[in-house]
Amino acid sequence: MQQPLLKSTTAYSALPETLGQQGWAICDGFLSNALVEALNLELDRLQDRQQLNPAGVGRDTSFQLNQSIRRDTTLWLDGGTLAQRQLLDAMEQLRLFINQTLFMGLFDFEGHFAVYPPNGFYQKHLDSFRGQSNRMLSVVMYLNREWQPGDGGELVIYRDDDPLPVECVIPQAGRAVIFLSEEIPHEVLATRVSRRSVAGWFRVNNSRPDRIDPAL
Ligand code: OGA
Ligand code: MN
Repeated sequence: MQQPLLKSTTAYSALPETLGQQGWAICDGFLSNALVEALNLELDRLQDRQQLNPAGVGRDTSFQLNQSIRRDTTLWLDGGTLAQRQLLDAMEQLRLFINQTLFMGLFDFEGHFAVYPPNGFYQKHLDSFRGQSNRMLSVVMYLNREWQPGDGGELVIYRDDDPLPVECVIPQAGRAVIFLSEEIPHEVLATRVSRRSVAGWFRVNNSRPDRIDPAL
């Protein structure tokens, strides 16, 4: 499949404007080299100890392992290491910045490490369906230092029902892609090499007196 090249990256300071205009934004240099290094070291350890789990589709009781939809392994962040705390601090800064500028009312963040093994992929999907989830804003941060042409694993972004992609993003270290979870269909093309990232979601709080939300 012929993919369009990456068209535009956005400075951190302009993220809200780009997100507001097009629903997604790509920011290079989002994570420092030092933090990328620390997260990679942590992932080396986690992989040595086989602590990542095959990822599924759906939550809780509707959780399914469906390897025709996605083939990657994940581990939820719990803030248990310095690197994770630095990453979660960066997410908190971003949450406040977005709330101050776009008034999205983002309430909290959940995220996981994701490693796609060779031949791993994730078919075209939305991260959240209107009214069914409180995930509002998705963030994916890449950790592979030297992505070569031909390594595959690109993140392809679509708009509405248009079958032609609008962006094809190489998953290279330091880069972050941020998009509206309910609006931007996307997929991860098959990767030829092990592909590392942290993916996460900012959620809104839909709590009512009779229901705690986000679910604990
Ligand atoms: C996801 C996802 C994209 C990527 O985890 O939901 O779409 O580039 N990830 O890893
Ligand atoms: Mn997704």
